[in-house]
Amino acid sequence: MQYRVTLIKGDGIGPEVTGAVCEILRAAGAPIEWEEAPAGGEAMEKYGVPMPEVTLQNIRKNRLGLKGPLMTPKGAGFRSANVALRQELDLFVGLRPVRTLPNVPGAIPGVDIVLFRENTEDLYAGIEHEVTPGTVVSLKTSTTFAGERISRWAFEYMRYRGRRKIHCCHKAGVNPMADGAFLRAFRQVGEEYPFIEQADMGVDSLSLQLPMHPEHFDVLLLQNLYGDILSDLSAGLAGGLGVVPGANIGTHAAVFEAVHGTAPDIAGKGLANPLAVLLSANMLLEYVGEWKAAGRIEKAVWRVLEEQKHLTRDLGGKAGTAEFTQAVIDNLGGVA
Ligand code: NAI
Repeated sequence: MQYRVTLIKGDGIGPEVTGAVCEILRAAGAPIEWEEAPAGGEAMEKYGVPMPEVTLQNIRKNRLGLKGPLMTPKGAGFRSANVALRQELDLFVGLRPVRTLPNVPGAIPGVDIVLFRENTEDLYAGIEHEVTPGTVVSLKTSTTFAGERISRWAFEYMRYRGRRKIHCCHKAGVNPMADGAFLRAFRQVGEEYPFIEQADMGVDSLSLQLPMHPEHFDVLLLQNLYGDILSDLSAGLAGGLGVVPGANIGTHAAVFEAVHGTAPDIAGKGLANPLAVLLSANMLLEYVGEWKAAGRIEKAVWRVLEEQKHLTRDLGGKAGTAEFTQAVIDNLGGVA
């Protein structure tokens, strides 16, 4: 079986890191055929928007995508490419596994958390208006439908992956309607999964407890804004955005992406670390059930990190993108 996957190379370091990942996947025998599609700066020049319809159609057709980082032009009057992608393809699950990898500077040992962020509602609906001069209203949307579907996705993921405990994090004390609806949806769906331990807590309390006792948490479920903030906080526990993968998943398509940006300061210099995009591509392989190739890559990455000989500068080493990539490829051998 060969999978056709839409490849968005991205801006800045995007082409370097996605190029490295394609090389590693090929060497690992991952049965993937890439189909390139434009987005970001390239698409702006050609189509006048950062996420053109031709690219959305390509992902709709293939149902799978791997995306490099895209620059967000500020104040240009249109949605960011990332927001457009999530909204247009209804990628309602923001999935961010965060765990401590070997020898990552600044990482707290023993972090192993999966964070689910509801991607489509909340303040990100972008419904704002000025009621009178100096008074602005920004609407937080929350539907039972969205709360139930992300909850079900999280519970199903846990069942499949053998995860034990889920915390739904909210601020229902001050937002009893919007956050209360999300919490009720979580509890309602949770009744179908009595074999999974379930709890809820304030998002403020979570922000305190998570850095102090990350080992107490397994799976977190949050609305869009809290999820956005807490997923970056969680990434910080594992050493930062450069080592954390991510995915945005919907009923009809799934797009896997690193969560770091385009790193304009090192773009084109051969210094970028492809690890986060590589781990995102590995999530894609697991998503389609290509466990063998995913396992080979995972083991190779751990060996390279443990050896500490070919680490990129952000990980405290001296290697460039090419050296790190080659080291991963060299470590694929013999682990099949
Ligand atoms: P950034 O993540 O691009 O850079 C922050 C720092 O991390 C820089 O020092 C950079 O060199 C370093 N860094 C990031 N990724 C790295 C990698 N793979 N290897 C080695 N070092 C790495 O964040 P910044 O500077 O805030 O944003 C730059 C641009 O990226 C902006 O246009 C922003 O809108 C966009 N961006 C795009 C995202 C996406 O497409 N998912 C996410 C975040 C930002």
